[in-house]
Amino acid sequence: MDRIEALDARAREIMRGNDMGGYTIPTKGLYPFQWNWDSAFAAWGFSTFDLDRAWTELETLFSAQWPDGMVPHIIFHRPDPGYFPGPEVWGTRTDPPTSGISQPPVAAILARRILAADPVAGRARMKALWPKMLAWHRWWRRCRCGHGVAAVAHPWESGRDNCTDWDPGMARVDASGVGEYTRRDTGHVDASMRPGKLDYDRFLAILQFGRDCGWDQQTIVERGPFLMADPAITFILIRAHRDLAALGQELGADPGEIATLEGWAADLVAALPMIWHKKLGAHVARDLRSGEFAPAISSGAFLAWLANCARDEAEARLIAIWDRVRFGIPSSDPAAPGFESRRYWRGPTWPVVNALIAIGMRDSGRDALEARLRRETAELIANGGFWEYFDPLDGTPCGGDAFTWTAAIWLTWARGGLNGEGA
Ligand code: DGY
Repeated sequence: MDRIEALDARAREIMRGNDMGGYTIPTKGLYPFQWNWDSAFAAWGFSTFDLDRAWTELETLFSAQWPDGMVPHIIFHRPDPGYFPGPEVWGTRTDPPTSGISQPPVAAILARRILAADPVAGRARMKALWPKMLAWHRWWRRCRCGHGVAAVAHPWESGRDNCTDWDPGMARVDASGVGEYTRRDTGHVDASMRPGKLDYDRFLAILQFGRDCGWDQQTIVERGPFLMADPAITFILIRAHRDLAALGQELGADPGEIATLEGWAADLVAALPMIWHKKLGAHVARDLRSGEFAPAISSGAFLAWLANCARDEAEARLIAIWDRVRFGIPSSDPAAPGFESRRYWRGPTWPVVNALIAIGMRDSGRDALEARLRRETAELIANGGFWEYFDPLDGTPCGGDAFTWTAAIWLTWARGGLNGEGA
């Protein structure tokens, strides 16, 4: 067996090992439930060797959709005391229990790729998922896009929990009343690679506000302790609206609903100037309570390519940020004061984000950039293993090991980087 085949086999083994029957956990111990965007990436990974299982992953995810269309960020299928905050802290009273916030809406983007693997076999299953995805996209529009671009009401909703993007909004969160609690994550992973104690206090304070108002979206958006415009989710949502519209065309959906999706994407594009930071020269997160911009450019800005919304004047600046590291796109600019190369989203490079950025590079004809990003990501995984994230300066593996989405990204995209393949 050659090196790539051995890595393929290990990636499949990790995905099978994290398969709990109908849903996949991100990794054992640290994340013992179904996470929203992890699951969509898992489905994409499964599509390389078990298409039926790929569709099942998405179906299980959408089976926990709330009546208002929201697809929650965690689904607590079975109790597990190894994770905090569990269902009793969220207090959502759903069946199965879930968290009360959402996560980046990548499902339609990846479902389109999964359907392309076998359009005949997948047609009926995608057709059944389509209205559910539409309802979720409508939830984003109704509950998070009222200010123009997409907002997040909790850093966990962004999927990029402790990124420098959230510093201005987090600084305004009063965590003095959160009470005592015991974190579990630092029992699984070195604390220096995880968010700090003050971050956790604030994460919980925001959660408690949502729980205490019964997860009422209007209250959360109007009066919640945290609301920030997120460039990453905005670009992901633009792409996802368009991909869901394209899927709708293929499946013969109602033309009015397809036009609605295209209109939502156009509205997000029209609102992009509100997150354009003139001095930094890129799209940057912004506190919707105070108007303050985040202090640095994050990997979210690179997703402009995914949405085909890149501005020419940002290109050199983005590449300069990438050139400051050896491996992959850093989650925050290494030249900015808040950068920490191994602390979760404050600097590390994430194979999943690299893969989304690469889709944008490829679609916009930036083939040389895509080949470089794929090669760097492949080297990280081949040399370090299937870890959650990596130090972009020296490639040190970080976070959880045997990680589902890193295995999925290997199988769907990164593997070709080892022998210099194009997409
Ligand atoms: C965690 O618990 O660290 C997760 O990122 C929340 O989704």
